[in-house]
Amino acid sequence: MTADEKTSLAVFLDAAAALTGSGYRSGQGEYHFSDDAESGGEVTGSEAVDSVTAADTASDSLEKIAAAVRSCSACKLATGRKNAVPGEGVSNPLVMVIGEGPGADEDSSGRPFVGRAGQLLDRMLASINLSRESNCFIANVIKCRPPANRDPQPDETAACASFLERQIRILKPRFILCAGRIAAHTLLNTAEPIGKLRGNCIDFQAGDTVIPFLATYHPSALLRNEDLKRPAWEDLKLLRSAIEGSENHVR
Ligand code: URA
Repeated sequence: MTADEKTSLAVFLDAAAALTGSGYRSGQGEYHFSDDAESGGEVTGSEAVDSVTAADTASDSLEKIAAAVRSCSACKLATGRKNAVPGEGVSNPLVMVIGEGPGADEDSSGRPFVGRAGQLLDRMLASINLSRESNCFIANVIKCRPPANRDPQPDETAACASFLERQIRILKPRFILCAGRIAAHTLLNTAEPIGKLRGNCIDFQAGDTVIPFLATYHPSALLRNEDLKRPAWEDLKLLRSAIEGSENHVR
């Protein structure tokens, strides 16, 4: 069995556990499977597991993740999608932007943040010298559009978790900008209001790496409520200062 097949199986079992509330318990979305050896080569013990995990990461790639996302059928969102939306941007991002999930425009095009909210996001990023073309990667917590843009459900978020985790591991972004309540709640595993989570650069533990992490309002929320634009701008300035601080530190 390949690593992707094992991940799909674990994701399926997680979704089943979420529905039944009993039975199977996994590593809560943390999957570190490896492909089975083609033949022989019996490996046992923790040293083997460690080396296999390292090999997994070394052989993973954005292209493999995108292909796995596009062929994923681990949750019910797969049946309603036109296109899955793996994410896009540079492969060594200064900033990884993480949103909630595709809307209608993203579902039609297969690209993240291309509708009205996405155009606003692009302008927000440009105001602090960031863009998906030059120094950002843009992804979402879930990769398929929920019907009528409803919030993702726990089984759907669980089914998608390993894709985002693999993307972060491969991209090793210098900063993470989290757009909106759903993404912040998923990544920080909290239900605190976004108004309390924004406004601070915090340390985000991604595997064995710590990444400076800032949450802000989702651009869709800014389109609905003008009053959120000022605090969002404060967040962007904070991110810019953190970036400049880290650049000065390196020099
Ligand atoms: N909203 C999101 O959170 N992500 C997208 O890709 C588009 C809209």
